Amino acid sequence: MPALRGPGVRNDAYALFFAQVPGYPARMNADDRKKAVAQAALEFVPHGGVIGVGTGSTANHFIDALATIKGRVDGAVASSVATAERLKAHGIPVVDLNEAGTLAVYVDGADEATVHRALIKGGGGALTREKIVAAASRTFVCIADDSKLVDVLGRFPLPVEVIPMARGLVAREIVALGGEPVLRTGFQTDNGNIILDVHGLEIVDPVALEERLNHVTGVVTNGLFARRGADILLLGTSSGIRRLP
Ligand code: 5RP
Repeated sequence: MPALRGPGVRNDAYALFFAQVPGYPARMNADDRKKAVAQAALEFVPHGGVIGVGTGSTANHFIDALATIKGRVDGAVASSVATAERLKAHGIPVVDLNEAGTLAVYVDGADEATVHRALIKGGGGALTREKIVAAASRTFVCIADDSKLVDVLGRFPLPVEVIPMARGLVAREIVALGGEPVLRTGFQTDNGNIILDVHGLEIVDPVALEERLNHVTGVVTNGLFARRGADILLLGTSSGIRRLP
């Protein structure tokens, strides 16, 4: 069981605790805040076993931080080819999910997050493998800089991974649901599929939309992580790490 409390990552009754991390710089840009929150997530890395690791710039900072304590884990399941390469470059063994079984912890970033820990993910196009690794993990620790926190999901275009031959069919279904699908040009997922980025959504019921989109024939998965959102959301702010709940 990972440590759920510790210096620099704390909880309180209002779920709005700002912890002062020693040496926390006064002025931080978004990348500094990503780096700080990635460092804070080391609290959740168990001693022994295999963890799941996500994709993107915040996850990359986490991999770099993990490398400093790499002897603590037996290895990591990667949510993308890019993440597998970065883990290997640091000498962290990459483990096939089918060999690893249930993972204690999955650490990954997000494009948008609510205080209820529903997420939009997939800006890096790795949403399907990310959703698989999250589903296989007991605790999903989402790490993000505080600019990702929103009241309502949807300003960030929702990524939908689609089987290529179903592109037109799925796009028409999305238009019927009120979205504006835009093909991510020059991009192919690690699974050989395309991404439609859906603009113009105001997602007041993320669970319902996640399920509705998953039922469109030709959709592999969509970037809403609401049915299984993050268990813990860590936000890097300019005054410290905010933890929800
Ligand atoms: C990749 C993702 C990323 O977690 C998301 O795009 C956030 O990226 P970043 O950490 O670079 O802001 O879902 O598919």
